[in-house]
Amino acid sequence: MALLNLIISLTVLVLTVEAAVNPRYYPRYHLAPECGWMNDPNGLSFYQGFYHLFYQYNPKSSLEPGIAHWGHARSRDLVNWEPLSIAMYPDENYDADGVFSGSAYIEDGLMYLYFTGNVNLDAVIYRNETQALAVSGDGFRFVKYPDNPLILGTEFQPNIRDPKVWKHEDTYYMVLGHSIEDKTGEIVLFTSKDKFQWNYEGVLAQSDGSLGYMFECPDLFELDGEAILLFSPQGVEPDGYKYRNLYQTGYLVGKFDYKTNKFIQEREFVELDHGHDFYATQTFEHEGRRILFAWMDMWDQNYPEGGDGFTGMMTLPRILTLTPEGHILQNPAEEVDNLSGDIVFSGNANPKTPIVLPDKSARIWIESSGTEDLELLLSATGTNTSTVSIKFDFGAGFVILDRGGNDGVRMAPWTPSNGEKLLWRVYVDASSIELFCGKGEATFSSRFFPTSDVAVSVVTGDVSKFEVKAIPRTLP
Ligand code: FRU
Repeated sequence: MALLNLIISLTVLVLTVEAAVNPRYYPRYHLAPECGWMNDPNGLSFYQGFYHLFYQYNPKSSLEPGIAHWGHARSRDLVNWEPLSIAMYPDENYDADGVFSGSAYIEDGLMYLYFTGNVNLDAVIYRNETQALAVSGDGFRFVKYPDNPLILGTEFQPNIRDPKVWKHEDTYYMVLGHSIEDKTGEIVLFTSKDKFQWNYEGVLAQSDGSLGYMFECPDLFELDGEAILLFSPQGVEPDGYKYRNLYQTGYLVGKFDYKTNKFIQEREFVELDHGHDFYATQTFEHEGRRILFAWMDMWDQNYPEGGDGFTGMMTLPRILTLTPEGHILQNPAEEVDNLSGDIVFSGNANPKTPIVLPDKSARIWIESSGTEDLELLLSATGTNTSTVSIKFDFGAGFVILDRGGNDGVRMAPWTPSNGEKLLWRVYVDASSIELFCGKGEATFSSRFFPTSDVAVSVVTGDVSKFEVKAIPRTLP
């Protein structure tokens, strides 16, 4: 008996040790997995009083995506997340190699989760991706539909995935990302009258070659009277300061005609964020707000957090609006700024010494004239040299973020709107930085990995307001 107890306690110890995550890079107020690997946000929704965020999840390892499950968390305020048990396992023959990305649709008190079932095949047709459904009546237990898959999509194999579903009048719509023979990315549309039987309607958008070989995570929604087609193309070549990441995320503005089921593109593809780590976005609407999350990471980076027991985090919840010129503005949901953290520093001139961020996490609020250069430096105080510099180049009209190392620079054209001051809101969280310029015209989301405390200072230029506010810790 004593031996049995010893074995049990040793097993518990081993499991606990395995599950422990080193907190040095672990976000304090962004959602990350308790341990293991996280990628794309899935199934964003508001259901029975809670926001729900599912995500691509490998509970077995933080070093590789493995076979995707759906991880799950819920929140009352989009910031404080309660981790819940795994929503979906790869336990059916049609999803044995991954319960891939998808979306939630809420109707008549039920939550419908549409997802891609992935099965790996051989070297020629290397995978089969079908679209499937799971239903929940309580937001905890999810039952896969017995007649899955709903869409076999034989003619679209092997890359057809990431269903995003919505309803308009009496019809349900589903967009899917597709690759024509691994060469051309496109978004295809299906419709349904009952949520179960789906018919192919045609192509909504297609790469002309310049937008790569595959479109992942498509999303179509209305924003201030325009239709926005948001997606993550793979295979876009770098072009000057644009498209510097392995894969991109961006949008087309146009009109969606519900009579012909056609998307009429009005503007060129625009990248949504200019940092290193922003991918696989999804949006949903609640109480008139269009809310977006992205995976704040990028494929194939091998960031050091993997060795610490977790990989991946979500961006802050962002509210989208559209300018009359058809440009998306992104701003953090007000819930983030409403968190009542201490003001660590506040002044109307450059701080005389670098300000150490509490627990490596804070919101830094900066204003300056906007008519001269400005450089802000976030530097690790210890021996670790991880620094991030953010510059406003007034002459060039660019914002430049440099996290050092190989391929450290990202930039985007931005100047304050006519006659306005420069305003930057910078959210730092242990291993991430999210910069919102002005009214949200340009954003940068990047990861960096300081092992010691982080201090912020103004290197060039003069600020007229400088505030560092702590953000309360909400580790699970
Ligand atoms: C995007 C993506 C999706 C897919 C999922 C798999 O990052 O590749 O297209 O469904 O990740 O985890």
